[in-house]
Amino acid sequence: MSLVQPVKNFSLASKKKLRDKHLMPRIHLGLYQTSGRETSEAVTAALEAGYRGFDSAEWYGNEEAAGRAIGRFIENNTQGVKREHIWFTTKLKTNSTYDETKEAIEDSIERSGLGYLDLYLLHSPYGGPEARAECWKAVEDAIEERLIRSGGVSNFGLKHMKEFIQSNPRYMPSVNQIEVHPFNTRPELVEYCKSYGVTIEAYAPLAKGMRMKDPTILSLSKHYGCTPAQLMIRWSLQHGYMPLPKSTKKERIISNAQIGSFEITDADMETMDNLDEYLITDWDPTDCE
Ligand SMILES: NC(=O)c1ccc[n+]([C@@H]2O[C@H](COP(=O)([O-])OP(=O)(O)OC[C@H]3O[C@@H](n4cnc5c(N)ncnc54)[C@H](OP(=O)(O)O)[C@@H]3O)[C@@H](O)[C@H]2O)c1
Repeated sequence: MSLVQPVKNFSLASKKKLRDKHLMPRIHLGLYQTSGRETSEAVTAALEAGYRGFDSAEWYGNEEAAGRAIGRFIENNTQGVKREHIWFTTKLKTNSTYDETKEAIEDSIERSGLGYLDLYLLHSPYGGPEARAECWKAVEDAIEERLIRSGGVSNFGLKHMKEFIQSNPRYMPSVNQIEVHPFNTRPELVEYCKSYGVTIEAYAPLAKGMRMKDPTILSLSKHYGCTPAQLMIRWSLQHGYMPLPKSTKKERIISNAQIGSFEITDADMETMDNLDEYLITDWDPTDCE
């Protein structure tokens, strides 16, 4: 069976239904390694271009800058864009106790100024099984208190996902945000998550810019008349992932999302899958204790 999912008529308004039934934008602007004015300008440029999803984290130190830029846009736009049309994700920095997680969630809401969080993730599985279970309980309670709409995890490997399923949680994670791109395809983890309806958010969908000159990427981009970045983001979408491309440059923010006019064939998807070299662009907590 082909793993390729047709994404006909993709636009920045396209959404995907999560296992908890919430509709999440198909593409989000990544905000890692941006801060202050840079974050604010990137978020504003993205909102103007039509992006509605933003991926922040307590760790990135930019929840406030991102939240304020979103708030200003909501207040001033003439297109009728309201808070409920935006999807704001942030993440717990350190897995510790139930109380500390509840406090971290409240602090993130306050810093962002957005009233609630659309998606809250445990940023990594670090801390061991007990800490993971405690923190997740706090996420579940925050969902019931409507502080968070959807809960999820990030950098969880097979072992952590299996531990999750076996613990029979009140809420399953709606997403697992992991590094996935043609140079790191993680087929086993992806299939396991999919089999439980856990959506894959693909971080570093551009392999952090490290493989833009790869000969296969260059020749396929030429063939499809697109940029290497557009090709890689399209690959991510066609696999059914939610890509989070990061850029601080307005032109790239706009062009990275212009991927609705071509479709990569099954054969070319496979060629791109075969570029897998388990490239890690930043960190890899997926097999920690
Ligand atoms: N959960 C986690 O542990 C985790 C880890 C890493 C990332 N993430 C999330 O995933 C997002 C994306 O990952 P990432 O930021 O590491 O990497 P990425 O999105 O794969 O790549 C970003 C890099 O590509 C460049 N770039 C963007 N568009 C381009 C284009 N059209 N042509 C050429 N270069 C381009 C950017 O430079 P410019 O900014 O100069 O354009 C930047 O250097 C992050 O921002 C973050 O939100 C999550």
